[in-house]
Amino acid sequence: MLEKRILFAATVFILAVAGVIALTVRLFGIGLPNCLTDVRPFREAKVIEHAPKRYEIHYVARMWQFEPADVSVVPGSTVDLYVSTADVTHGMQIVGTNVNLMAVPGAVNFARVKFDRAGDYLVVCNEYCGVAHHNMAGRIHVTEAATAPPKPPPPTVPLMRGQKVLDDNGCTACHSLDGSASPGGTFKGLYGSTRQLADGKTVTADDAYIRESIEKPEAKLVKGLDPIMPALPVASDEITSVIEYLKTLK
Ligand code: CUA
Repeated sequence: MLEKRILFAATVFILAVAGVIALTVRLFGIGLPNCLTDVRPFREAKVIEHAPKRYEIHYVARMWQFEPADVSVVPGSTVDLYVSTADVTHGMQIVGTNVNLMAVPGAVNFARVKFDRAGDYLVVCNEYCGVAHHNMAGRIHVTEAATAPPKPPPPTVPLMRGQKVLDDNGCTACHSLDGSASPGGTFKGLYGSTRQLADGKTVTADDAYIRESIEKPEAKLVKGLDPIMPALPVASDEITSVIEYLKTLK
């Protein structure tokens, strides 16, 4: 008789626990750990709009940026997030949501999130991943304007373009624009300045020097800086627009 009662109590207890889990999932949107997928690791960032308010975003985490860096969706959107890393382990936390994923080499993690409230959601890396870890961030804009047609570009296109190339390639994660200390040195006042190199020589930061430093970062290493800058797939005319932009950062 006693055994039967214990069995009954145990069954009730198990059902109660299952009920509490079901309730938390339904009421608070707390996800059960199921984030690892069998999706193959990818290197290409994507934003796919499957239907109105239904998005899929493929995030690539790399030192030290998220791609895509900026995404806009309308309020009420359900977003499927897949995250892959291009180099080391990163974290991907979306402030103000329950999303907290790891970007682990060799695996792709997944989370589904619904953005009910409008606002700017910060995407941050919460795994230490190198010198500019603290600069590694992206944004998800939840705004009614997300589906509005893009505004025509402002007239100062050449300058804006150089700035965009810097943003798109994550340059500003390591190079500040305002003179503040940064791992790769600031861009402010760089153009035309004299650079002290690691081998004791000096060089003037002119067009040729800047072009070479982007194409072959290790060619002329600046004294005191670590050789951590990656060679980036930046087209020649993009470099020209970067140089034009740097000239304005006096
Ligand atoms: Cu990526 Cu810290």
